[in-house]
Amino acid sequence: MKNLERLNETARLLVAEDKGLLAMDESTSTCNKRFAALNIPQTPEMRRMYREMLITTPGLNQCISGVILYDETLRQQLDDGRSFIQAVKDAGLMPGIKVDAGLKDFAGHPGEKICEGLDGLGERLAEYGKMSALFSKWRAVITIGEGIPSRALIEANAHMLARYAALSQEAGLVPIVEPEVLMDGEHTLERSGEVTEEMLKNLFYQLHIQGVCLEAMLLKCNMIVPGLACPVQNPVDEVAEATIKCLLRAVPAAVPGIVFLSGGQTSELASARLNAMNAKYKNHVPWELSFSYARAIQQPGMSVWAGNPANIEAAQKAIYHRAICNHAARKGEYSDEMEK
Ligand code: G3H
Repeated sequence: MKNLERLNETARLLVAEDKGLLAMDESTSTCNKRFAALNIPQTPEMRRMYREMLITTPGLNQCISGVILYDETLRQQLDDGRSFIQAVKDAGLMPGIKVDAGLKDFAGHPGEKICEGLDGLGERLAEYGKMSALFSKWRAVITIGEGIPSRALIEANAHMLARYAALSQEAGLVPIVEPEVLMDGEHTLERSGEVTEEMLKNLFYQLHIQGVCLEAMLLKCNMIVPGLACPVQNPVDEVAEATIKCLLRAVPAAVPGIVFLSGGQTSELASARLNAMNAKYKNHVPWELSFSYARAIQQPGMSVWAGNPANIEAAQKAIYHRAICNHAARKGEYSDEMEK
């Protein structure tokens, strides 16, 4: 019980003061893909330098409460010899860790992927806890397409996410439970809403079955948006309304916060949509509406950095700018003006 009270406090702190999370937990292959697109060498040292630049961004903790790290980073040091976890804490940020082991083809279901990583997870979480990680994250992925997602995928993901969350709470780390309905495809906003609602209802049923304490977790979720190739791209207020409607139907009020992923939206849209939700609904919903963005915070800074140490200061300014914009969006105070 004491443990759960502490986890509840950590979960609340992660979404307090209109701050959000910086996800910098890309797997090696995902990070390499982003580097390759900018002609940045794909080496452990470049990933280390890049991530050192991210967490040493001046003033980051004015807008960011915690960062999600990847296992490789946890075992690396900064130029000054400090561990990343120590440097994160020194920067006034809470350290978290991605614990899923990535996606594999889902047996018998072409076109669908399932996450691996439950084997040995209890031991890994205990190790991360000893390294003083305060929270963890597990990402499941749901693709919308012809005849998918299947019932099998939704139920398997709900069950895995709930098993992960129970293990994480037992190890003393707040679970950030992430079922991501992908934006890839031609589907409409309505279809994104149907699939997300179905996924969330199954998830919260399984969280209940597995005895997960809802006050001691956060939900990381996609916004309800049309597919990237859908000919109708709904305006910001329709995305905000559809997202809140879906969440009100499916997410219990006991959950302290919902932290949105950006999922391939532009940085500006991710801020504008979060802003619209907070401007209209902040005082009418039971949870904090926050962010846990990777691309929507990092991408402009990564492009400016481009692997060149001479660009670090300018890149950090770009990262700080995205953090400030999303901090404002949490208060419903973001506007286009901030981008000028
Ligand atoms: O799990 C996904 C990341 O933590 C969030 O990434 O904001 O680029 O979608 P994204």
